[in-house]
Amino acid sequence: MNTLIDNLSVYTKGDPSNPAIVFIHGFPFDHTLWDTIIEQLHQTYYCISYDLRGLGNSEVGHGQYTMESYVDDLEQIIVQLNLTHVILCGFSMGGYIALRASQRLENIRALILANTTTTSDSDEAKLKRANAIRTIKQKGLSPFLETFLSLAFSQNYQNKHPNVINHYKEKIEHFNPIGVIGGLFAMLSRTDTTEYLTKQTKPTLFIESSNDAIIPTDTMKKLASKTNNSHYVQLQNSGHLSMIEQPQAFVSAINKFLISYSKGELSR
Ligand code: MLT
Repeated sequence: MNTLIDNLSVYTKGDPSNPAIVFIHGFPFDHTLWDTIIEQLHQTYYCISYDLRGLGNSEVGHGQYTMESYVDDLEQIIVQLNLTHVILCGFSMGGYIALRASQRLENIRALILANTTTTSDSDEAKLKRANAIRTIKQKGLSPFLETFLSLAFSQNYQNKHPNVINHYKEKIEHFNPIGVIGGLFAMLSRTDTTEYLTKQTKPTLFIESSNDAIIPTDTMKKLASKTNNSHYVQLQNSGHLSMIEQPQAFVSAINKFLISYSKGELSR
C-alpha cells in the first residue's frame, strides 16, 4: 500500500500485527532498492519502505536537509503508522539515518546496518562531496551518476547486468537535482555515531560486502567487534549495493538474525 505522510511517499506490505521493519534506502536511490528483499520478508514482518525527502516520489521542498531532518521525517512515519516497536534496516546513507534515529528515538528495538559506517566525513570526503555538488550544478546528474554507479556496483555485476545499471541511471536522472544535492549536504554535515553504537545494547546485525568500493570492506567487521549484541555477515561476490547483487544472502542474513529473537521481543 502506498500512502503519503508529510509529503513523503511511504509503502507498507504485510500484516501490521507482525514485527515492523522500516527499510531506509541509500543515496541517491529510492524505496525500490528494497523490493526484492521485502517480497521475501513481508509474510513474516510488517515491511515499511519510503522515499527519502528529495528522492523518488517524495517532495523535494527547499532541498536543505540534514541527518536530523531525515530523522524527523522517519519519526513522523513511525508516529503516523502507530509503530510502537521498530526494527530499522538502513543501507549506506540509510544506515547513517538509522544510527542517528536509534540514538534519538525511543522505540527502535533492533538495528540492521548494511554497507554503512558510523564515522562522519573526513575533510577529503567533504571535498569530494563539494566537487560532486559542483558537477551536478554545472552539468546535471548524468556525469555524476556515471561515476557513482560505476563505484556502487561491483565490476563483475556491471559486466553481467548492464541493463540494471541503465535502469538506475535512467531512473535517477529524472530525480530533482536539488533533492540529490540536499542528500550530499546532509551526509557531509552528519555527526559521528561510533561512540553511541558501541555503548548501546540493541540487537544489531552488520551486513557488508566483499567488494564494496564505497564503504571499505572490514569497516563493519571492526564495528561489529566493538558492539554489544552484534551479529556480522560478509556477503561474497558483492559490491556496495548488496541487496541488489546478493538478495538471497541478504534475506537469509536478516532471517537468521531475527529468528534468534522471539517475536515478543521484537513485536509492536
Ligand atoms: C550511499 O550509498 O548511500 C552513499 O554512497 C553513502 C556515502 O556516499 O557516504
